[in-house]
Amino acid sequence: MDAMGVVRDQYGQFRGQTMAQTFGQIKVYTNVVVAPTLPNRDWPERGGPGTRMPVGALTLAGIERAARDRLPPEIWDFIEGGSGAERTLAANRKMFERYALRPRTMVDVSACATGMNLLGGQLELPLGIAPMAYHRLVDPEGETATARAAGKAGALLVAGMFASRTLEEIAAAATGPLWLQLYWLRQRAALAALVERAEAAGFHALMLTVDAPRIGRRLRDLRNGFAIPPAIRAVNLDPALMAASHRATDGGSGIADHAREQFDPTLSWSDLAWLRERTRLPLVLKGILTAEDARLAVEHGVDAVLVSNHGGRQLDGALPALAALPDVVEAVPAELPVLFDGGVRTGADIAVALALGARAALVGRPALWGLATEGEAGVHRVLDLLREELEHTMALLGRPRLADLDRGVLAPWPTA
Ligand SMILES: Cc1cc2nc3c(=O)[nH]c(=O)nc-3n(C[C@H](O)[C@H](O)[C@H](O)COP(=O)(O)O)c2cc1C
Repeated sequence: MDAMGVVRDQYGQFRGQTMAQTFGQIKVYTNVVVAPTLPNRDWPERGGPGTRMPVGALTLAGIERAARDRLPPEIWDFIEGGSGAERTLAANRKMFERYALRPRTMVDVSACATGMNLLGGQLELPLGIAPMAYHRLVDPEGETATARAAGKAGALLVAGMFASRTLEEIAAAATGPLWLQLYWLRQRAALAALVERAEAAGFHALMLTVDAPRIGRRLRDLRNGFAIPPAIRAVNLDPALMAASHRATDGGSGIADHAREQFDPTLSWSDLAWLRERTRLPLVLKGILTAEDARLAVEHGVDAVLVSNHGGRQLDGALPALAALPDVVEAVPAELPVLFDGGVRTGADIAVALALGARAALVGRPALWGLATEGEAGVHRVLDLLREELEHTMALLGRPRLADLDRGVLAPWPTA
């Protein structure tokens, strides 16, 4: 307890305040505990609200709980929320439960190899961080901390167009493969300028998000009247172009208003030529869920596709991402990388996505949970847990190489 009566735990976290009042000769102490330590089975010895050191977290679910305890409710809702009734959001996770794993025995698994090459970049595991706007919402450093963690873990980072650190800062912090995500803006000049800057800064590929001609109805943000706080900005774009995202309106969301104002809903296949003319970088399309679109993507010469429903944040009722994956894989030539995101929370989930034909899996929310709890170290912890779990799954499956993860790994989960 310090002179002001403030009580902190051994990690310096605020735990409450003791107030002293004097009535004549009697001094009365009142304990006002505002941040009780809640039991958290993942790290019972340290933890609880406000803790920035979830030492010993054994699962991403544990890190998720720590992040939720830490973040203001409207930021938490912005991150966790989906669109509409959040059916697609929930189904992304549920789909993984449909699969059982078929372990083979008596296979030498003394060395499990998870390294791979993706569009010319070397990864230590088939994993990336999906593009997400405004990492500084959860950590003062933001994307540069995420980039360092991804580099250390040997994972891909896809920086968002609405990153809260400059492309140049992110590129300077990155030591591994780094891609930039783009939305199709009405202001093509802004898009062209970003592409040029990304190339100059050393980004390795562009990922165009094609599932957002308009933004999904994210009811949590609408209810909260959510807007991006003024101190946190999409610094790679002109402030005038981003102004709407900072305006809170009653019953509205700054994010939705901004998208309505700035996203170009006329985007169609023929527009890809415009982008191609402006860059030598490989082009990846994000948000493909059908064989029809996968075939069109191939016809238009894209370098990879990402099967994704935007983490359940766009069309509610859209196919769960894992359900869409086999159709897309079947529709494209074997050499075209098919990436996957949506609901990946364990190393076993990565193994399932790979067994269904994905070349690599991306995680969205978990990276922000890590960043919110421990900054760079937290993101690294998330990626490292996934690597450890993937390697463990491969060993116990009797599949020591990524190429061994094929359909033979999977069986339908038996229903009672
Ligand atoms: C907070 C947040 C912000 C996001 N921002 C973007 C974005 O700017 N561009 C984009 O293409 N996808 C964005 N996404 C979607 C992710 O790239 C990804 O598709 C999704 O989060 C994957 O699902 P998961 O969170 O279940 O892993 C965002 C997702 C979240 C949770």
